[in-house]
Amino acid sequence: MVKPKCVVALGLPSDMIDTLGDAYDVAAWPESQPMPEAVLKDWLTDAHGLLCALSTPISAALLEHASRLQVISTISVGVDHIDITAATRLGIPVGHTPGVLVDSTADLALGLMLAVTRRMAEADRWIRAGNWAQGWQSDLLLGTDLSQATVGIVGLGAIGQAVIRRLRGFGSNVLAWNRTPRHMDGVQMVELDELFARSDIVSLHTAMTPETTHIADRQRLASMRAGAALINTGRGLLVDEAALIDEVCSGRLNAGLDVFSVEPLRPGHPFLSQENVVLLPHVGSATASTRLAMVGRALENLHAGMAGQALPYCANPEVYPISDS
Ligand code: GLV
Repeated sequence: MVKPKCVVALGLPSDMIDTLGDAYDVAAWPESQPMPEAVLKDWLTDAHGLLCALSTPISAALLEHASRLQVISTISVGVDHIDITAATRLGIPVGHTPGVLVDSTADLALGLMLAVTRRMAEADRWIRAGNWAQGWQSDLLLGTDLSQATVGIVGLGAIGQAVIRRLRGFGSNVLAWNRTPRHMDGVQMVELDELFARSDIVSLHTAMTPETTHIADRQRLASMRAGAALINTGRGLLVDEAALIDEVCSGRLNAGLDVFSVEPLRPGHPFLSQENVVLLPHVGSATASTRLAMVGRALENLHAGMAGQALPYCANPEVYPISDS
């Protein structure tokens, strides 16, 4: 029997690929660098399934060319690298991995808040540069306290809520904004402009959509208090990056960033020379157990789509016809 073809567009452990090979004719990209679009286009010509991740943009043109494709399964919760409108129009379900990366990402957001407010990365660089000549000093690398901070959470989805649960332990005053207002004990819901203007730390946890692009725009960044910090573990394009560069280079704002408008960050990017910005290479979900859970969820989606069944974690459930029963 001819097996359906499945394209794996990223380097994955070989034991995982071997298992997929039992059921499918697998074409797996073997390199660690992203798959070139021309190769992906070629491989998708006769493919039924696609397993991918954030490193592979999936355009409408690619999807229109992939006439047999019946499922896209991404190893990520975000689907902004996929033209989901085109996938939906073409009736291709897109599977993603919500839920399993909530705690890891919330932990990282808290880590960035602490790293920025207590100047941890800067202190580490300072020691390594051989500057620690004097032992304890009363005014060395002074920071600010999370317990005294007002923290504004943009987006009260699962990750935003998990960040708030953690902040309760630190005793922070929490403000929040969500597109549809929600109630959370001890959290004051406010308008976006007020949140930016009143917070010592603003942390972004909203999904990336056309409406949320540059939600942290120049005007909102300019309204933040001098010495305040922007934390972004969501998507780079939630922020007007040019405006943020101006704010951090002037020293008015600090930032803790796991995501950028263009990844990887190019050599010579202005953030790289700023002491007041903590930089991470998009590692919000990067714990061994979370990555395993994400792959597990992505495989569930892939197998369901290959079998012509509804995906358990579908980002565009509107592809399924409404049943009368
Ligand atoms: C990570 O950024 C994800 O969307 O899973």
